[in-house]
Amino acid sequence: MEALSIQNYELGTSESLKNICERLGDPGFCSDLGLRYPYLGGSMAKGISSVAMVEELGRAGMLGFFGAAGLPFSVVEAAVDRLASANFPCGFNLIHSPQEPDLEKALTELYIRKGVRIVEASAFLALTLNLVRYRTHGIHRLADGTIVVPNRIIAKVSREELAEKFFSPPPEKLLMELVAEGAITAEQAELAAHIPMAQEITAEADSGGHTDNRPALALFPTIQSVAVRMQAKYGYSLKLRAGLGGGIATPAAAAAAFAMGAAYIMTGSVNQSCIESGTSDEVRKMLAETRQADVSMAPAADMFEMGVTVQVLKRGTMFPMRAAKLYEIYRAYACIDDIPATERDKLEKTIFQVSLNDVWQNTRSFFMERDPRQVERAERDPKHLMALVFRWYLGQAAHWAKDGESSRKIDYQVWCGPAMGAFNEWVSGSFLEGPARRAVSIVALNILLGAAMLTRANILRYQGIQLPLEALNVKPLEYTQIKEYLS
Ligand SMILES: Cc1cc2nc3c(=O)[nH]c(=O)nc-3n(C[C@H](O)[C@H](O)[C@H](O)COP(=O)(O)O)c2cc1C
Repeated sequence: MEALSIQNYELGTSESLKNICERLGDPGFCSDLGLRYPYLGGSMAKGISSVAMVEELGRAGMLGFFGAAGLPFSVVEAAVDRLASANFPCGFNLIHSPQEPDLEKALTELYIRKGVRIVEASAFLALTLNLVRYRTHGIHRLADGTIVVPNRIIAKVSREELAEKFFSPPPEKLLMELVAEGAITAEQAELAAHIPMAQEITAEADSGGHTDNRPALALFPTIQSVAVRMQAKYGYSLKLRAGLGGGIATPAAAAAAFAMGAAYIMTGSVNQSCIESGTSDEVRKMLAETRQADVSMAPAADMFEMGVTVQVLKRGTMFPMRAAKLYEIYRAYACIDDIPATERDKLEKTIFQVSLNDVWQNTRSFFMERDPRQVERAERDPKHLMALVFRWYLGQAAHWAKDGESSRKIDYQVWCGPAMGAFNEWVSGSFLEGPARRAVSIVALNILLGAAMLTRANILRYQGIQLPLEALNVKPLEYTQIKEYLS
């Protein structure tokens, strides 16, 4: 028998596939947020999830988060202003920045002032005053008793303890602080005791960037179970929901997430390889060539001293090895002057390509403007000075990649998870193989439509219909073909 693909196997009419696509997750989630599809483009730092990406996803009926982390305040403000006139929902990242508490507070206040209604809260280890301030701003009760909470936090977590905190009402102590400073009234604080900090939590499994490398199949059911438990504990009138991100870039992964009960899915790595992402063409090309095992963990610039790591690309760049070398030296010596001359010479010639003294002068002027306390500390504590110098390389490596600095290609720091390799294998031989035609919405629609087809195939299999292996090989479709199914 000739092999059949799902497309020509007539796995449902286009009408039924369209229905499945719109019902894959939690339809209540889509209607609450004003989305057509339960598909979220996660925040990617330094504007890699750009304004253009948020717009493209928004126009296609999905939700994108602008990657506010690591950007100067004025750039985030400009993005908020540009997206303010959009006639679709837009989200912004609110990332916990323990090293820059003033910036985190300023961003929270910006989002409140400009009426940003959805934030993706990430990297938080506990609930903070900023988060509670954002969530409770404008909370009120309607005449029929309904509590209205204008500001939505979609929290990204990979630990169950944190999921419990986000699914709980705001802590009373923090509410009282806000009442004391006049940010909310006592009545608003009372209302806030009846709502969760976040109605939605994205369980983040093994992903690009900061990750605990949790397997999605183990993590999601745990977070889902926390949602059920917290719903029963607090008896909220609204429904708690869990979404899934990390490792999703194919129809099969999306179908699996929805089969486990995910209210929505979130992608990241694959979007960075799309034309709208705020990175360089050089990086897009490298990402399009990435295979499953071409990623590894490397020291993170922001929490270098604590030994925190991020998942990055290792093919075509020496960044992971070089960053690991710097961490090893940082652990071994008390200060730069203790590094043996030959070792120091090697560092200056290969990794830094400038003298460590020059790097310090450069770093010093940067921090004098941005956070002079760092300079004071470094001048008292030579180990801290060494950390700031080493972090210069880690920070620059991300900029060289984003700017496509060809002389430093071997040092590119590109956050990326195994989802990238999975995507590339799926689209090989199709129009999405190279980066040139990877529009974020075409990628997303193909993942969703493919998930709908696989879901339909599974329904048939459970009814006893045998499908050939090829039938499960859903191939990417051009936009005109997708429209036939989904318009
Ligand atoms: C390049 C890149 C930058 C990221 N930056 C952030 C960030 O600033 N804030 C955040 O919450 N998540 C960040 N993430 C995580 C994504 O939002 C998303 O949760 C994750 O990429 C999903 O997993 P995946 O990479 O397997 O698709 C980043 C991911 C990548 C690949």
